[in-house]
Amino acid sequence: MSKILEDNVNYKCRKCGSRASVRVTYAKLLLCREHFLEYIENRVLNTMKRYGILKDTKRILVALSGGKDSLSLLHILSKIKDKTELEEIIGIHIDLGLGEYSLESINAVKKACQDTGTNCIIIPIKELMDHNLPELVELTRRPPCSLCGLIKRYILNLTAIELGVDAVALGHHMDDVLVFIIKDFLFQDNIDMAKMIPVTKGIQGLLAKKIKLLYEIYEDDLSTYAYLAGIKTTKTPCPYKYQDPFKNSIRKMMDELENYAPGFKISVARRLAKNLEKTPILEEIQPCRYCGMPSRNGICSICSLTMKIHGEPIGPKIKVKIKNKLQQGTLHL
Ligand code: FES
Ligand code: ZN
Ligand code: ZN
Repeated sequence: MSKILEDNVNYKCRKCGSRASVRVTYAKLLLCREHFLEYIENRVLNTMKRYGILKDTKRILVALSGGKDSLSLLHILSKIKDKTELEEIIGIHIDLGLGEYSLESINAVKKACQDTGTNCIIIPIKELMDHNLPELVELTRRPPCSLCGLIKRYILNLTAIELGVDAVALGHHMDDVLVFIIKDFLFQDNIDMAKMIPVTKGIQGLLAKKIKLLYEIYEDDLSTYAYLAGIKTTKTPCPYKYQDPFKNSIRKMMDELENYAPGFKISVARRLAKNLEKTPILEEIQPCRYCGMPSRNGICSICSLTMKIHGEPIGPKIKVKIKNKLQQGTLHL
């Protein structure tokens, strides 16, 4: 974890001897602003090398919510790109139509893409599904977060397949990953647990490969990185933000253990990756009979959802709309 030092504290940066701005507890380091940013960028590079995350990966689609995690990832990627095999980074933001929160998110994403020289695609779900998220929640009576996750996964995967990119980069950091894995373990959800590893394989033309370059990066480090790098992020919380009591308790337990033994989370994350990589995801995936996207039983979640609300599966229509949108080109911000 990292902590910004108070102004009246006068420690020296380990690297250059100028005034330190940050204490990195797990590495017992004091660093100035520049060397902290460089330190985190190098940690991402090392994570990438350790797990072979960018192996055979030249073009990626980065999912951008507008929050500190995904926007820091975009900035870090733009900084380390020349040290990797990466040739093209494309940003994507899915506009859920959540009022102030969505407006702020879009602005933050556009600014980050402008600052990093990244081409970007902004996809409003209303254009694809005739409804925004609140309307879909109303119509389906499903929990907003699961509905949101299902829609985002579908659009991200479909766009990645249509663009022919090598992978989708997600902004999940280590604290999130550990909480998900431990919760899935407690509920014995082995399939979801195995999906949390740094690289999940794709299936040509059906399922995009997913990569997590922040797999070993603490959430605190990303907050500090975003702040010190001057990245403008969404401040308004999602109106559906939900405090899951299971996840909160797991997070608290992990934080206590980390305080007791700094670096604990990194060593757990490494062991989990090693063990989970040995456990193949035993999930039968087949193309949806309507839209051709991944499904467990022949009908994908979007086609089955829209059969209930539109009276027909609109996966094929969404596909055409995304194709048309991509033909118009990505936004050159
Ligand atoms: Fe998906 Fe809040 S961003 S429910
Ligand atoms: Zn320094
Ligand atoms: Zn479908």
